[in-house]
Amino acid sequence: MTIIRSVIRGCGAYLPSRVMTNEDLSKIVDTSDEWIAERTGIRERRIAADDELTSDLGLAAARQALERAEMDAQDIDLIILATSTPDQTFPATATTIQAELGIRLGAAFDMQAVCSGFIYGLATADNFLKCGQHKRALVIGAETFSRILDWEDRSTCVLFGDGAGAVVLEAQKLNGVATDRGIIASRLRSDGRYRKKLYVDGGPSSTQTVGRLRMDGREVFRHAVTNISSIIEETLELAGLSVDAVDWFVPHQANKRILDGTARKIGIDSDKIVITVDKHGNTSAASIPLALNTAVEDGRVQDGDLVLMEAMGGGFTWGAVLVRW
Ligand code: UT7
Repeated sequence: MTIIRSVIRGCGAYLPSRVMTNEDLSKIVDTSDEWIAERTGIRERRIAADDELTSDLGLAAARQALERAEMDAQDIDLIILATSTPDQTFPATATTIQAELGIRLGAAFDMQAVCSGFIYGLATADNFLKCGQHKRALVIGAETFSRILDWEDRSTCVLFGDGAGAVVLEAQKLNGVATDRGIIASRLRSDGRYRKKLYVDGGPSSTQTVGRLRMDGREVFRHAVTNISSIIEETLELAGLSVDAVDWFVPHQANKRILDGTARKIGIDSDKIVITVDKHGNTSAASIPLALNTAVEDGRVQDGDLVLMEAMGGGFTWGAVLVRW
């Protein structure tokens, strides 16, 4: 039986050069390296230069992904940019990336699901490719969260950072066997009753300002482990696979304690979890492809490996994608 699968042909990432350590932050707000590292696992984050926009970060990651996929930008007919920090309210920042890459075909649009944005983007692209509407997609997560932080609020400004990551997906006709590469299953969820637990207090229609990030950290934490664990179980069930079959867990990098809690709850071997939150903090939609790129670059993720990605973020939104590398 022939099936169409969305195969990941390459991935890339970009981090701005300016490093902000926990020590640096302790000079801005009443905090310490000890508190941040112990509660979150974060050691440092990157901050975009004044003239660097989300589109610049996303473009750099996209170019690397295309190079690794050995593809020309002209091969791409779909760009999905997951971001909550677009260059402007409109047009979609994805169209800036499309223009910079010189692409004239297909469609480019932004995806807004906050920290779950990359998972939402992957699932959306997968469905477009599987139904035959597009052939090759760039899915990018890019954020400049430093621009929407309240730098006087120690409970949030220590958590986030800037960065970008990207993958190139290609629709391939495969045999319909267990070893086929590509996205095997995806699952998306949201529950708008919790939208006030993690939000930005501004916007074009409400305040006509950009606003600043606000979060009830304890509440987000409380829901995170439960939601992430259940979406992992649902996704594995959809694929008919057990947690032991997974080679690498590449989670949204928000907080190491959430990852440890999830691992305990569903019985994931901690050696299989890719953790990069120490190096770049929570980069929202960019964090999964940043972590994925690290594990591909250092040789952990190999052809044929089963990789599970998951995220939870504002909305609340959450989701997971299971892929054979
Ligand atoms: O992508 C999803 C995005 N969000 C998340 O994943 C965040 C989920 N939540 C968390 O990661 C945790 O709730 C935090 C890391 C945000 C906070 O950790 P916590 O263990 O829940 O701390 P807390 O909010 O209960 O605060 C404990 C204490 C408080 O002081 P008092 O009231 O006990 O005196 C805070 O004022 O820690 C204080 N505190 C800080 N102290 C030093 C809060 N932020 C800081 C700080 N440095 N940066």
